[in-house]
Amino acid sequence: MLNSPVVEAAPEDRPIPRMSGPALMVIFGASGDLAQRKLLPALYNLVQKKLLPEDFTIVGYSRTEYSDEAFREMARVGVEKYSDVEFQEAEWQKFAQGIFYVAGNYDDAEGFARLKSRIEELDQSRRTGHNRLFYLATPPSVYEPVATQLGQADLVHPVDEKCWTRLVVEKPFGHDLASAQALNEHLLGIFDEDQIYRIDHYLGKETVQNILVFRFANGIFEPIWNRNYVDHVQITVSESIGVEQRGGYYDKSGALRDMVQNHMMQLVSLVGMEPPVAFDAKAVRDQKVNLLRSIRPLAPEEVGQYLVRAQYSPGDLNGERLPAYRDEEGVAHESTTETFVAWKLEIDNWRWNGVPFYLRTGKALPQKVSEIAIYFRRAPHLLFDSADDGEHLSRNVLLIRIQPDEGISLKISAKQPGPAVKLQPVNMAFQYGSSFGATPPDAYQRLLLDVVLGDGTLFTRRDEVEVAWDRVTRVLDGWKIQEDQAQSRGVPFRLPTYEAGTWGPAAAEHLLGLEDQSWRKP
Ligand code: BG6
Repeated sequence: MLNSPVVEAAPEDRPIPRMSGPALMVIFGASGDLAQRKLLPALYNLVQKKLLPEDFTIVGYSRTEYSDEAFREMARVGVEKYSDVEFQEAEWQKFAQGIFYVAGNYDDAEGFARLKSRIEELDQSRRTGHNRLFYLATPPSVYEPVATQLGQADLVHPVDEKCWTRLVVEKPFGHDLASAQALNEHLLGIFDEDQIYRIDHYLGKETVQNILVFRFANGIFEPIWNRNYVDHVQITVSESIGVEQRGGYYDKSGALRDMVQNHMMQLVSLVGMEPPVAFDAKAVRDQKVNLLRSIRPLAPEEVGQYLVRAQYSPGDLNGERLPAYRDEEGVAHESTTETFVAWKLEIDNWRWNGVPFYLRTGKALPQKVSEIAIYFRRAPHLLFDSADDGEHLSRNVLLIRIQPDEGISLKISAKQPGPAVKLQPVNMAFQYGSSFGATPPDAYQRLLLDVVLGDGTLFTRRDEVEVAWDRVTRVLDGWKIQEDQAQSRGVPFRLPTYEAGTWGPAAAEHLLGLEDQSWRKP
């Protein structure tokens, strides 16, 4: 008889029940917008839905001097305004009893000593199980000092202890490949990779998770999900606002860093990846990273051929007049930061070779929409005269709508009623709202719960972040060369513009036009 070795399942391979045990969460940057608008309401919702225990403990940490009471008041405002369950005074009072606050600097050993003694007190007085979740909701410049202080204060349990320590890192995770690698190195000197949860809130969206279910729980799509049947893919993440009060941040970032490196690369990987062997953190992320590696790396001189970038000029949006991007508050007057980017991305593998993935994102566009459109090849021979847009009529389009109007639809051609054979496109549609009678919960609920449960499937692994930054940094390098060349000719470098409230510059149309394709109007 063959003696087969018993293989211990790795922790991440075990199924994880969807209910959580006790824990204490420290929010760094607790006085900020993210804590008030997203994190605290999400925690309140999770407790009300009985997905987190009633005595879940929260400690806010930031520089602002608050008492526990004052911080609870701030939390209350956020919860009342943003939680999706009904606000109930009695429930709130119970929840608020578990909220505490410590004021301190992010690089100050004394502050962390105070934090530590508060945590140890709460470990005794409340049921925390000594489990600790540290959430970096601070500006990225203090991610490293906070991690250092956590290590020095001895607040990080080794991975093999019964109780756990986990670190959640918000975006942006670095501003190019080198800084992302340096941040990874730093964090990995203090935490183990399995303890680090790099958050991308797009992965917490129900409809984004549905991409995998749709692809891998239905037998009919996978056989046609490849270059034999798919003509091209369009991914649009558009926003119908300008930079508003975030000009200072945005001007150092731009659309490519702000949206493409993270959210859009995640969408590309979910649409393009090979089937994983299991639905667990390792298997899913292995396949995602493989897909990202297959994205063709661009040489600096190719960047102009594959990408279009632009900035918004004054225009009307939602009935209001928007100024030029350069005249927004916090934006440099000579800014060359892009508020729009379109990218023709080539994927060099067997499944997708020759099928362009077109990405488009921008601020000040006509609508707020996130969607993925899979354009299938035309019927090989068309028997019918088509009175309208012929080209598109014979092309089936599968639309995955991430937001708003969450759902999935398939465009097919049908015969219009009447004596003549006249074709008309119609939709077969699944709508999240009408099928499930609810709108999807905010992404942070799912993601926070997953961290407490120790499920890293919906978080970005080190190698994923770095390969995405590699492809994006090549573009940034190419753009820098374009700018330097203009400067060396003595011409000030200017980006093309598009009027606020339109779908971007004409050059974005040409990117597709060369292939007899055109952007979908969402
Ligand atoms: C954030 C970006 O990550 O995503 C913002 O920094 C952007 O600029 C936001 O507005 C969009 O998220 P959503 O969930 O509204 O599509």
